Amino acid sequence: MTHPATVLGAAPPAPAVAAQYDAFHAARARTGLVARLYAEALGEDYPAEVAASSSCDWPLLGLMTARLRMQPGQLLVDAGCGTGGIGLWLARALAVRLVGFDISRVAVGEAFARSGQFLPPGRAAFCVARLEATGLPDGCAHGVVCVDALSRAADRDQAVRELGRLLAPGARLLVTRAVRRGTEPVWEAQARAAGLIVEHVDERPGEPGMWERLYRLWIDHAEELRRELGEDQAANMLGEAHRVLPTLPGRRAVLLTLRRPVASPAAPGAADTMARPGRHPDDSERTPQ
Ligand SMILES: C[S@@+](CC[C@H](N)C(=O)[O-])C[C@H]1O[C@@H](n2cnc3c(N)ncnc32)[C@H](O)[C@@H]1O
Repeated sequence: MTHPATVLGAAPPAPAVAAQYDAFHAARARTGLVARLYAEALGEDYPAEVAASSSCDWPLLGLMTARLRMQPGQLLVDAGCGTGGIGLWLARALAVRLVGFDISRVAVGEAFARSGQFLPPGRAAFCVARLEATGLPDGCAHGVVCVDALSRAADRDQAVRELGRLLAPGARLLVTRAVRRGTEPVWEAQARAAGLIVEHVDERPGEPGMWERLYRLWIDHAEELRRELGEDQAANMLGEAHRVLPTLPGRRAVLLTLRRPVASPAAPGAADTMARPGRHPDDSERTPQ
């Protein structure tokens, strides 16, 4: 098993952004409180072993398992893997190899430390890399998953192109997305620009309600959060809870399955059809944490 500090060829993460995520992961690693509140908010749908910092629940794990359609021994990439539970769980379930990456060195260290609980030595590797520039080889992956991380990329169009670039012909990219009801999703155009086909759009009707329960718990436990995570991290969480709660009734959450065609065009080459980099037409997409 390897734990490279950086990936060859990848641009290093912007230090300030990486440092924010390092602080986020380091604070959560110090306490079981955040995981307990996730468990309470998700109830029976909480996959405790995975312990994600996201909307990952049993229905999502089931959907991803079915949509990936991977064969034993193939390579799965977990993009924005956090502490690694989702990729590790899927890799064990599907008998595949795993590469996980995240912008946070702290998260990658934790993912590496957990890998032995799920997989035998040599089946998983983790590295520090960005969604927009992974440094991984073209066509290396038979499946890519990206759970509640795409909305954090500085340039989502570029991130979809980059994750699409990793897909072997016929392979799939599964990504959680959210949009305000009544607005036109950008994912069709982003997929086309990356040379991918939208194969499935699976609705996740329980996702906004899960965030609502979690945010109310965060607000109810504000004092404990401050005590256990420190002022800064607690302030980030409580600010997010107050900001996002009112938007949840209008939120539509989905799991997208994007596929690279089996006979792939030589290059996506769709730069002229792409939305301007860095433009986020619908910021309701930003996924809570
Ligand atoms: C909400 S967490 C989800 C983590 C994990 N996928 C899960 O479901 O538990 C978002 C993750 O994205 C990572 N992240 C944020 N911006 C990133 C970027 N530009 N490239 C790679 N990872 C990024 C953060 O460090 C964090 O671990």
